Amino acid sequence: MKRVKLTIMVMVFVSLTAMSCKDSKKEQSNAQNKQLTESDELLPIMYRLMADMKQINEGVFIENYPMIDSAAYRITHHLEINPGQMQIIKKNLGEDIQEFVRIDMVVHDRAAAISKAAQQNKMSEILSQYNILQQSCVNCHNQFRSRLRNKLQ
Ligand code: HEC
Repeated sequence: MKRVKLTIMVMVFVSLTAMSCKDSKKEQSNAQNKQLTESDELLPIMYRLMADMKQINEGVFIENYPMIDSAAYRITHHLEINPGQMQIIKKNLGEDIQEFVRIDMVVHDRAAAISKAAQQNKMSEILSQYNILQQSCVNCHNQFRSRLRNKLQ
């Protein structure tokens, strides 16, 4: 009898410990997700944008509209540049920060238009929006990449 009691106590203890471990894991991953939904460094954001552009391109060729939609959605909702780097960008660009932000807005708007067109299976609309989107990526790079290179590390 004593032994059974002890066993039960041990079991309760073990499961309680397991539960609290699980909770702290959950908290940890919530914290990570929170960080991810807020901001990131510019370069990882850029590499994800490029991966999403590739996915849209692929979706166009295989006529996979959900694939186009999901990649365009990720571009529209890309993370913000982290505050520290944003400060550096502002400092280096001065008034031109307005142009930097404007082009980013074009990227957001065109990506949203691609999502909408993908939901309506409108391929030619997707292509013309994709064109403007890609031009905006290159437009920002032409104007600002060399001015910011090696300043953001
Ligand atoms: C508002 C400005 C802006 C827009 C819009 C923009 N980028 Fe960038 N991108 C930059 C800057 C600035 C850098 C350089 C960062 C550095 O060198 O530290 C960069 C770098 C990159 C790089 C890394 C290149 C390398 O030499 O390693 C890739 C890839 C990239 N961008 C992809 C994209 C794609 C794809 C889009 C469009 C969907 C896009 N970017 C839109 C500003 C922008």
